[in-house]
Order: sequence, then structure tokens, then C-alpha cells
Amino acid sequence: MKRLKKYAPLALILTSFLNSNAQQSFPMNKETEQKINHLLEKMTIEEKVGQMNQYNGFWDVTGPAPEGGSAEKKYEHLRKGWVGSMLTVRGVDQVRAVQKIAVEETRLGIPLIIGFDVIHGYKTLSPIPLAEAASWDLEAIKNSASIAAAEASASGINWTFGPMVDISRDARWGRVMEGAGEDPFLGSKIAEARVKGFQGEDLTATNTIAACAKHFAAYGFAEAGKEYNTADIGTSTLHNIVLPPFKAAVNAGVKTLMNSFNELNGVPVTGSSYLQRDLLKGAWGFNGFVISDWASINEMISWGHAKDKREAARIAAIAGSDMDMEGYVYVEELAQLVKDGVVDEKIIDDAVSRILRVKFELGLFDDPYKYCDEAREKETIGNPKHHEGVLDMAKKSIVLLKNENNLLPLKKEGQKIALIGALANDKNSPLGSWRIAADNNTAISVLEGMQQYTGNDLIFEKGPDCFIGNSTFLDEVIINNSDKTGLDEAVNAAKKADVVVLVLGEHGFQTGEGRSRTDLELPALQQELLEAVYKANKQVVLVLNNGRPLAINWADQNIPAIVEAWQLGTQTGHAVAQVLYGDYNPSGKLPMTFPRNVGQVPIYYNYKNTGRPTNKDNNVFWSHYSDVEKTPLYPFGFGLSYTTFEYSDLKLNGTAFKIGDDIKVSVSLKNTGTRDGKEVVQLYIRDLFASVTRPVKELKAFELVELKAGETKTIHFTLNKENLGFYNNNGTFIVEPGDFKLFVGGSSVTALETDFELN
Ligand code: NOJ
Repeated sequence: MKRLKKYAPLALILTSFLNSNAQQSFPMNKETEQKINHLLEKMTIEEKVGQMNQYNGFWDVTGPAPEGGSAEKKYEHLRKGWVGSMLTVRGVDQVRAVQKIAVEETRLGIPLIIGFDVIHGYKTLSPIPLAEAASWDLEAIKNSASIAAAEASASGINWTFGPMVDISRDARWGRVMEGAGEDPFLGSKIAEARVKGFQGEDLTATNTIAACAKHFAAYGFAEAGKEYNTADIGTSTLHNIVLPPFKAAVNAGVKTLMNSFNELNGVPVTGSSYLQRDLLKGAWGFNGFVISDWASINEMISWGHAKDKREAARIAAIAGSDMDMEGYVYVEELAQLVKDGVVDEKIIDDAVSRILRVKFELGLFDDPYKYCDEAREKETIGNPKHHEGVLDMAKKSIVLLKNENNLLPLKKEGQKIALIGALANDKNSPLGSWRIAADNNTAISVLEGMQQYTGNDLIFEKGPDCFIGNSTFLDEVIINNSDKTGLDEAVNAAKKADVVVLVLGEHGFQTGEGRSRTDLELPALQQELLEAVYKANKQVVLVLNNGRPLAINWADQNIPAIVEAWQLGTQTGHAVAQVLYGDYNPSGKLPMTFPRNVGQVPIYYNYKNTGRPTNKDNNVFWSHYSDVEKTPLYPFGFGLSYTTFEYSDLKLNGTAFKIGDDIKVSVSLKNTGTRDGKEVVQLYIRDLFASVTRPVKELKAFELVELKAGETKTIHFTLNKENLGFYNNNGTFIVEPGDFKLFVGGSSVTALETDFELN
């Protein structure tokens, strides 16, 4: 009893969720709700808990193998109707096999929902999500998610564990590659685009799948960028930075959310009633379901929050984690907890209703085998249209960071080009680390892409092998920093060339889950290769492959042209070559700040001014570092083009506005170069004085604008009170009167600014 009391805002929780009047996140159909209730009446407590149980398939693991799990046990539980979902089962044959057991061998025949990590494509891979975010092209991002949905659904899958909408300011964290970067506004727009791309207009269609916004919440603030670490952030950061993309996903109708491995301010989020009950299912009116992350319910024991599995199950269920991913905790403990009167059956009924609701929404009750069509599987997966789509996305994701003396684009004829670097010939690394369904070595390499341009004399030299190790899905990459075999050949090739294209950076398996780093520079031997090549030939184009911001100071100071090409998926080589040769004019902009060194991290554009922002007295007592500038190497929103743009005529429809007025902004943009091009026009504000201090800049609008050479366009934006307010420390959204600055430009270091007042 004592323990129960300790955790027992149960009555309170129950009344709060049962009486919640908040608007529902997606429309509830009366008939469906009746069917759900009817089913609930028939279900035993074990069958109800079974719906809350998800098992991994029998092939790939995406986390540590849990205790007590075996294929026999899973089959036995499937037959009893104790499994509501499976993950990582893929392919029509396999999905049909498990679905058949659920539908034809269990007492009630409730279909399984089949989840999978469709993160940036299924078999045909798009760029990693961080790269896609660099496009700032919401239509392209949506299209990329719908291609992924088409392929995954053709393979029997009906639910993706994406999009990851975690905001992160820490390039050390390996999973920054999986999100949309550091900004809550851009992150929210991309969250919405991805949810819409996966779920489409009609979730019952066979080519759309349920989405899952993850990881709820604050996983991207893992301390020191160390994977699975604690997150300790204040209410202002939580509400203004972390939560907006989740809210955007909910507003876009996302069907599920996944919680995360981290604790937040001392409470593992899997057990957080505040996040899951009060906010998500209460205030936000979310009527889909929440899945735990892989065994994150059990992990509350290691965190020191739950004594044992029974306690972990109780805390998680009461807190609103509706489904247990591969943790064996709910299936083993929950029914007894209900029988013992420790967990109210209404909590179970609520969770099961949510899960069944999504299954009904998908149309699984009408046809559990609707995603199991071999002919469609054959025709859809790897369809040439999908290759075109991911190539388009890949080109749009590339960011031109430097281009001195217009070294790029490369001339198409009469040149001797030395292509150097093991990554240039790598068909595996560009696929990134989240590619469970893709076949190894299926990316077009940069070498293959460059070979399409036959007018030049192309020589390839691998240089030293930068990475040793047989990369498989769960591999850690071993860096070679000692075997210099190949270095001399690379330098000799550089000497003979007109231009050198050097491909360096991170291997695809160096980023992603479990792949945090403390060093953001190029590995020592790659740096040595870069410097040696540069010594031999100054005309160097550095093509970066990486899944996070890197600290590339030396390169920035010395190398004339730098292209950020991330890990771009299946069509990597074609995308890179088309940009290098100018058949595509790059338009990407960084979704994350690039630091000068790792010591600057976390570094982000929307920082607070501090009380001592400048050294106006020329003394030491101001907010800075004594060994490096406080500015980043490349700011958020930055990216060049083969043409140039000029901003002018920033105008507002007034200088003083009332709260609630629309503020109309216009700015003129001219393409001042000789090529057609695209520019992401970015609008930022600064609320100068507020009851809770505001960042020096906040992105509030952007538009991707296409301009012919010499063309001028006027761009219009409208700001409303949603854009001008913020969450206070009680988590309430408020708009305060006062003085604002407004900035417009092609990066967060903006070109133009003006002022206005809000009354
Ligand atoms: C753990 C990861 O954190 C999560 O994002 C993923 O969806 C699950 N594993 C399932 O693979």
C-alpha cells in the first residue's frame, strides 16, 4: 500500500484521461469505437495485455537481445493471442506467416500491426534524414517518405518507426543523422511533411503506412551527446525547443508515438505521466497509441526507477506507455497487476482501444492480408520511379559550403580529374546505418557517378583505407590511422591532375544509434591525406560524407571547394556527380550548425544573448572562449549556390501591431549570377525583452524560391501570434507585447533587418 500511495496519482490520472475534453488528434469514427468496445467486452485480460505486447521478428535485432525471449515462446504467445504487434518482420511471405497465426489461430483473430524502422527508405534508400532536412524542400521530403511507405507496405509492413523528430544541438550524438537538426520550426515543418508522406491522404490505402513520431521526449538532449544518457533540461527548452515537432506531428494526424531510452529530469520518460498522459493524451488530445522503445520499460530498472519488472510494468502502463517493444514486461506482469488491483483495468482498456483504433484505421480488420500481395511486392520494390525520386531528393540535400574562384562546377571536357579516397569507391557507406531492408553495397558510388561523365580523363586512387572492418548492420567502424598504403599513389595522381576530387568523412556506420563520438574532426589519416594531396595540387574539391556536423577548420581555411554530401542513399554517386558537374545547381542549407571544434558543442544559432555578449571594454570578462572564436565554422541555414543572390527592400505593413494582427513581410530577392538557381529565403525574429528570455534569433518562416539568372522576385510572408509567442515556464503559450527585430536572409547570419513593436 505504501508503494502504491507513493505513485498513486492513479485516481487523478484516470479522471484526467477519461474526462479529457481536448480535441482529438484525428477524427474518431463512432462505428469503429463501437467495434472496439464490442471487442473489449469479449477479451480476457490476457488477450488485452497481449495487444500491448510487441515482439521482434526472428531474424534481425535492432537492440540487445532480451532475457527470456525465444522463437518458441514467441510462437506460443502468438497462438494464444498474446501478441498485438511484431517488428522487423518483413517480406510478404514472412508477414503473411505471422499474420495467419494471429488471424486464423487465435480465439479472436485480431490482426497484428507490423512495425519496421523505415527511416530513410526501405530498399531504395533516400538520403539520411538530416541530409533531407538540408533541402528545406518539404514537398521533396514528403515525397521521399511516400516512396518509403510504398516500398515498405508492398513488403507487408504497415507501420514505420519514423519520423524521428528529436531536436539536437549536439553533433557528438550519433542519432543527429536521423532527425531534422537543431531548429524546432524547421523540425516541425519536416515532421509534418514526413507524417503526411508516410500516412498519405488515406491510411486504408495499401501504399500508405502509420507513422510514429519518436522519441518522446528529449532524447536529442542526451548529456554530452552520449547515447542513452540522461537529459536534464528546463521547462523553457522542453516546451520551446523539444516538444514543438512532436506537437506538429500530432497535429498532422500521426497515429503513434514512441517514447525514449533517456530520463528527463530524473524520470525515465517511459514512466513519465506528465509527458504521456497530461501533455500528449491530455492537453494535445492524442488518440493514437504510444509504444515504448526497445525494452525501455525494463530499462527503468537499470535507471533505478523501478525495483523489478512488475514495478516497471505498473509505472509504464499507468504513465501511458501503451505497447511494450520486445521487453516481455507487460506480457509477464500486467494481467496479474490488474488481478491484484494494482493497475486499474480501465488503463488497460484505454491502451488496447488506442491500439485497436490504429488497426481499424489501417483497415486491418477488413483485410489483414491487404499488404501481402507478391505481385505488388515484386513490382514496387526498387521501382525505377523510386530511384528517380531518391535521386531528386539526394541532389536537393547537398550543401555547397565553399567555392573559391568558382572551382565548381567542374568543366565537362578536356580535364584530368583525380578522384581520391576510399569512400569515393564505397557502395555501402552511403546507405547509412539505418538500412535493414536494403542490400549491402547497393549504392551508386561517387566513382560510378563520375564515370557517367566521359569527356574528362578520370583517374581513381583509393589512398589509404580509412576504415577497416567488415561492416554489417550492427558493426562499429574501426578507423585506420596507421597503415598508409596508398598515400603516395594518391599524391602522385593529384600531381598529374587538373582538379582533385577528394571524398572524405565518416563511414555510414559511424553515425546512427549507439554511435556517439567525442571527436568531430576527420580521422588523422584522412586529414594527412587531405594535406598531402593539397600540397601536391591546390585545386582540390573536398566532398564530405558524414551524418553529423564535422569540425573541418583546416579544410575550410585551405581547400578551395567543399561540398557537404552526407550519406545520400542508393543514388549517392549520381547526385554528387550531377552537382559537381553543374547539372544540378546546389541549393541545400545546413539544418545544424557546424562547430570549429568539439569544445564548442553544443553550438546552435538560437542561443541566448547572456548578460555579457561582447567585449566592448576590451577586457576578458565576457562570454567567449579564450582559444577559439565563439562563432561557428558554418552557421545554421548556410549554403551556397553556383549563382549568387541579393536581398533588398525588406518591408513590413507597419511598425506597430496589436497582438493578433497579421504582420505582412515582403522582401526582394535577385539572382545576380549567370545561372538559374534556388534559394531558401529565411525569416527570423528576436523578441528583445521578455519575461522568459528569448533567443538572439528564431526561425519563423522560410520559402524555397527558384529564380532564373538575372530574375528578381518579391517574397511575401505573414506572421501571426503563433509566431510571436513562446511557452513560459509553466508550459503555457503566451504572447507578450514589446519590441522585436525581424531579419531576412539566406542563412541565420542574415542580410537584412528591421524593427517592430507589438502592443
Ligand atoms: C531502438 C531505437 O531507439 C528506435 O528508434 C527503433 O525504432 C527501435 N530500436 C526498433 O528498432
